[in-house]
Amino acid sequence: MTFQTKFPQGFLWGGATSANQVEGAYNLGGKGLSTADVVEFVEPEDRTSMKIPFPSIDEINHILKTDENRVFPKRFGIDFYHNYKEDIALLKELGFKTFRISIGWARIFPNGTETEPNEEGLAFYDRVFDEMKKHGIEPLVTLSHYEIPLHLSKEYGGFYSREVVDYFAHYAKTVFHRYKDKVKYWITFNEINSLLMAPYIGTGLVRDFVPEEKLLEAKYQAAHHQLVANAKAIKACHEIIPDAQIGCMVIGMINYPMSPHPEDAFAAHQDMHKTFFFTDVFTRGAYPSYMKRFFAENDIHVNMEIGDEKLLRDNTVDYIPFSYYMSGVSARPEEGGEKAGGNLLSNLKNPYLDASDWGWQIDPIGLRTLLNMFHERYEKPLFIVENGLGAFDKVEEDGSIHDPYRMDYLRSHIEQMKEAIGDGVDLWGYTTWGPIDLVSFSTSEMSKRYGFIYVDQDDYGNGSLKRSKKDSFYWYQKVIASNGEDL
Ligand code: BG6
Repeated sequence: MTFQTKFPQGFLWGGATSANQVEGAYNLGGKGLSTADVVEFVEPEDRTSMKIPFPSIDEINHILKTDENRVFPKRFGIDFYHNYKEDIALLKELGFKTFRISIGWARIFPNGTETEPNEEGLAFYDRVFDEMKKHGIEPLVTLSHYEIPLHLSKEYGGFYSREVVDYFAHYAKTVFHRYKDKVKYWITFNEINSLLMAPYIGTGLVRDFVPEEKLLEAKYQAAHHQLVANAKAIKACHEIIPDAQIGCMVIGMINYPMSPHPEDAFAAHQDMHKTFFFTDVFTRGAYPSYMKRFFAENDIHVNMEIGDEKLLRDNTVDYIPFSYYMSGVSARPEEGGEKAGGNLLSNLKNPYLDASDWGWQIDPIGLRTLLNMFHERYEKPLFIVENGLGAFDKVEEDGSIHDPYRMDYLRSHIEQMKEAIGDGVDLWGYTTWGPIDLVSFSTSEMSKRYGFIYVDQDDYGNGSLKRSKKDSFYWYQKVIASNGEDL
């Protein structure tokens, strides 16, 4: 007998962006510099497999002094700052139920350390939320999506320092108070587990604060601080907006063993801890037992304050938001194997999977498996807040853009989501990454496009910024209108 499964009524279909990848206007409206504003575009031929920056303060100062000759795409984004009305109207036309954006922390607190917020920054997001409301779109808002005020990074080493926890808590409380009637779905940190691979991007840590041999310990110290900051924000959110839902996001990555060899299977199991360490802490409210051994074996000492354990225990997430792009393969160390692509998690190649033009391994069934894993481990609602295919798009002479590859990717993932719902998973929604083309996080390029809406701009910021609809626009519109029935 075939089993009929459907998306629930009220399922939150939509798309996701981040402030530093769309807004631009990096020095307008009283905004301070953020860690993302000093990340440069890297020419394709200069890209190595690991292109994520981990600068020193000197390098940042040098970049700031010599910036006329460099390209910083995250400073101009796609100028959402000025185009938000037109963009949100297009999302409305797509039928969006929700739209994920992030607040640029440095727009609200330019240095991160101020007591009083920057009113112009707050007013900008008021306008954006009002525009969403006008179109019946529910905001889903991330507090820190791969950026913090640059000052906090240079002066404190970002979340490596305990002081930044309180600066973050102050920022969180400020925006909860301001937007309490407008925003009900919150995410504290984007992909919190990314800090293990990219400490500068995730936490603002710069080289100067830790000697190379202590880097692993520093990452877990910063992780602890972010987990405490997350708990403080959850506490504040529940007090200030009792009907809100707040979660902390992870990169949803599933690792397969390279072979049935028990040591490969164990390596895959251990690799899953890069995600589960974080979800265990913020969902169950305590450090998992396996970390004790990991810390002892790696000579890691994490400073915790009295009261931290209680704070973590008492303030857990309401739901688990996560991104999903690909799966990975793990093997015992001596096995080696060919590396696959990815922006943060570099893994071994899986011979059974196709990959994107950037080498990301496409695995829709992995999404169903992961949804079930999260569900069985935590029994909490889940939300896929990023998924999508970065691809080169070609504009035809008549202006049309045919992107069947994007529809194929998304369709195959939506099918598996539906299966997972049939398996009993409580899935709240799905926001595809970059519904409108935006600047890539890992390479700062425009050529890698995720959108249903094309933006006329090249890697160097040239172009009219004109928005146009790709074939996938009409397809996703139909998917939403049919609540996932017409794929
Ligand atoms: C996620 C990030 O890791 O992947 C986004 O949260 C990012 O910010 C997305 O843009 C896609 O990665 P990339 O490198 O293709 O932009």
